[in-house]
Amino acid sequence: MFSPDEKLKSKVKRFWEDNPLSAASIPFEPGTPEFFEAHSQLRQMENSPEIDEWAYESSEASGKKLLDIGCGNGFVTCLYARAGADVTSVDITEKAVELTKTRLEFEGLSADVEQADAENLPFDDQLFDVVVSFGVLHHTPDTAKAVSEAYRVLKPGGRLLLMLYHRNSFAYQLLFRLKRLLQPAWKGKSAADQVNAVDGLGNPVGKVYSQKQVTKLLEEFTDHEYQSALMFFNQAGIIPAPLRKFIESRWGWHLFIKANKP
Ligand SMILES: C[S@@+](CC[C@H](N)C(=O)[O-])C[C@H]1O[C@@H](n2cnc3c(N)ncnc32)[C@H](O)[C@@H]1O
Repeated sequence: MFSPDEKLKSKVKRFWEDNPLSAASIPFEPGTPEFFEAHSQLRQMENSPEIDEWAYESSEASGKKLLDIGCGNGFVTCLYARAGADVTSVDITEKAVELTKTRLEFEGLSADVEQADAENLPFDDQLFDVVVSFGVLHHTPDTAKAVSEAYRVLKPGGRLLLMLYHRNSFAYQLLFRLKRLLQPAWKGKSAADQVNAVDGLGNPVGKVYSQKQVTKLLEEFTDHEYQSALMFFNQAGIIPAPLRKFIESRWGWHLFIKANKP
């Protein structure tokens, strides 16, 4: 018998096997050099270089034993491999493992990449200096279990870097509400439906977190730090850049989180 969480997780896996990260928004076949190039450009447009350096700490990664949970199409894995880290990467899908290996090969980089579930990591206790997981743990049914696994595999004094969707964001608190009120397609839908749809229609699990909720979720960790980024909605350039920056840094859709294992 499968538990409700296991059934849901198999839906999560199926969704991401069929919809690899950014495949819907890039007009090239996933796994081709053109696809990875277009994805890198998309990614660089998301945040300023200052936010990226703050969030990823890639300039401090050299020589560290680092685990990337939910590697997707390999952008983050390549970033740390390029920075000189000894990288191990996991993802629940075969497709993500294949894409990450291909991207590493194109870039002449190396990392250990394997299929594994964030909630049941196949690694010994206290193995890694750094565990990172960007845009992943809000998609797994038991996020607290995945956090406790990250804690388990980190060495004492190890560093955790995460990105989770932000509850107290312009998108969640205002934009989604307006859409539910004004757009016929969203009338009668829930905020949870909208969060799921951010990663594509049919995505079974997406969650949002406030800083307070993350502090509770990461209560075994110390030295929590937060920074939000990404407006999520400025496609038409409706919001002037200074105002957008102001909103992003407080109510951005991406909540970047750092913490230490004592
Ligand atoms: C939005 S992508 C993020 C990719 C990558 N971290 C990045 O920043 O580019 C989410 C990824 O998480 C993976 N994922 C979802 N649940 C997972 C789980 N329980 N264990 C491992 N990977 C998971 C999905 O397969 C997908 O590739």
